[in-house]
Amino acid sequence: IEHFVAADQVTTELAGQLIDRAEAFKNGAIANIDLPTYAANLFFEASTRTHTSFEMAERKLGMTVLPFDPAHSSVTKGETLGDTLRTLAAIGVQVAVIRHPEDNYYKPLIEAGLPLHLINAGDGAGQHPSQMMLDLMTIHEAFGHFKGLKVGIVGDLAHSRVARSDMQILTKLGASVAFSGPKAWYTDDFKAYGPYVPLKDLAPAVDVLMLLRVQLERLSDAEKAEFSAATYHARFGVTQSIYDSMQPRAIIMHPAPVNRDVELASNLVQANRSRIFDQMQNGVFMRMAMLELVCHSPLTDKGDFPHANA
Ligand code: CP
Repeated sequence: IEHFVAADQVTTELAGQLIDRAEAFKNGAIANIDLPTYAANLFFEASTRTHTSFEMAERKLGMTVLPFDPAHSSVTKGETLGDTLRTLAAIGVQVAVIRHPEDNYYKPLIEAGLPLHLINAGDGAGQHPSQMMLDLMTIHEAFGHFKGLKVGIVGDLAHSRVARSDMQILTKLGASVAFSGPKAWYTDDFKAYGPYVPLKDLAPAVDVLMLLRVQLERLSDAEKAEFSAATYHARFGVTQSIYDSMQPRAIIMHPAPVNRDVELASNLVQANRSRIFDQMQNGVFMRMAMLELVCHSPLTDKGDFPHANA
């Protein structure tokens, strides 16, 4: 995979290879990457975990990270994303990690040919492949397999690139998926992957309860005015009684940031079932595996770029 952008690129074999490699990194394996390799992380949307985790992964691999701040870049003067990437490639950057508010922002860039490797760190409500892969690693750590596992995905489905990526790969790997949360957010694209089940029935039935953040910043003004944290928590959140209804080995995941006392009772964020901080820790090792993978894949189409060095 020369550009890692979406769940549909990941076969069951590749998922297994990446999990093995990430687990090896977690156990101290040494990176196999040509140095120097230069990376830049272009985050056009806010991020704590994904941005710092990619930077940590790059540094652990021995890569050199060039700082890039969109607010102080020539994007503010109207430079396109394509020209920004050509510029970075001309300067010597070989890998760009990009988070962008537009769904599928990467498609025209790849179609035109890219002079560097691109990893999608989240596009609008589209895909979040590195979150997907670290989620797989975390589930694999807990259960050792995916086939036959029952996964409940709960919350703000409509705005969630995590849900869209995870439901695709989990069903491909033989897990079954069901959804819960406000019914209006269970939009048509989820119906092909699994049924809607009320949380009180879903929680006792699943191995993995994956909670999604209510993305208040993406709600309309009317939706925001209507939203009540307490009402949401009581109807769709994991309260102590929902937590207690789960099977003995079942785990709770959340991509974070968590709205405490909304998706999950604050006192349960670090409870025994919670794998939230394990997900973050695993993210570094999985991103190392993803970066290594793209760096080992030759660039097949550099477009009209005259002096590609990657
Ligand atoms: N999970 C996740 O994508 O978190 P950030 O938005 O902080 O990167």
